[in-house]
Amino acid sequence: MEKERKSLIIAVDGHSSTGKSTVAKQLAVRLGYVYIDTGAMYRAVTLQAMRNGWIENGKIDEKSLAEGLSRTCIDFKYDAETGRYVTYLNGECVEQQIRGMEVSGNVSAVSGLGFVRKMLVEKQREMGKNGGVVMDGRDIGSVVFPDAEVKFFMTASPEVRAKRRYDELIQKGENVDYKEVEDNVRQRDYLDEHRQESPLRKTEDAVLIDNSHMTIEEEIEYMLETIRQKQ
Ligand code: DC
Repeated sequence: MEKERKSLIIAVDGHSSTGKSTVAKQLAVRLGYVYIDTGAMYRAVTLQAMRNGWIENGKIDEKSLAEGLSRTCIDFKYDAETGRYVTYLNGECVEQQIRGMEVSGNVSAVSGLGFVRKMLVEKQREMGKNGGVVMDGRDIGSVVFPDAEVKFFMTASPEVRAKRRYDELIQKGENVDYKEVEDNVRQRDYLDEHRQESPLRKTEDAVLIDNSHMTIEEEIEYMLETIRQKQ
């Protein structure tokens, strides 16, 4: 008889556009876990700020944003048709809007704010407290769940990541320039790593994965093997 496996918290952190969400989603499916995309939460807050004029030309009206956030509800709902979780902002599905370049250009500034992080980290802890989750982000292993049983830190070269992101945006019909995408990737790395609040860093106990030259399947197999050893 197969032994009962433990319901773990699996943290997947790393640089932007490393395919974290693709592998994290797959891992969740294979393990029968819930997948939580914390980047989508920061993106939804950013969209809300842009729509309400709380952020304009990169400048944030922190007071309005803080007040507005207390009336903002971010949720994930399972879409049985696609088998995916989609992001809702005050009851509206915003999955498409939060992935565009405009939100990408503003999200670093919003996610650098302490009060935004505090609110979202609390929500993330609540969502993951019973285990059986794969959570992807930047600070999951370092701040949200420092005691997570399994931690991965994903990276790849900036050029490889920019090319992947560019292809994804073109496929979605966005009119983008490759150079603009690469600049955005590099800029977000810098901002993620140098911000004062919860900067992106690999914790000592996280397993480093550089997937520049790995297929998704190789990566998932490797991650599953690591997870099975902890279950
Ligand atoms: O993973 P992503 O690119 O969708 O994340 C969007 C932004 O949100 C990214 O610039 C970093 C930030 N983020 C964060 O600060 N902390 C997280 N746990 C997740 C994302």
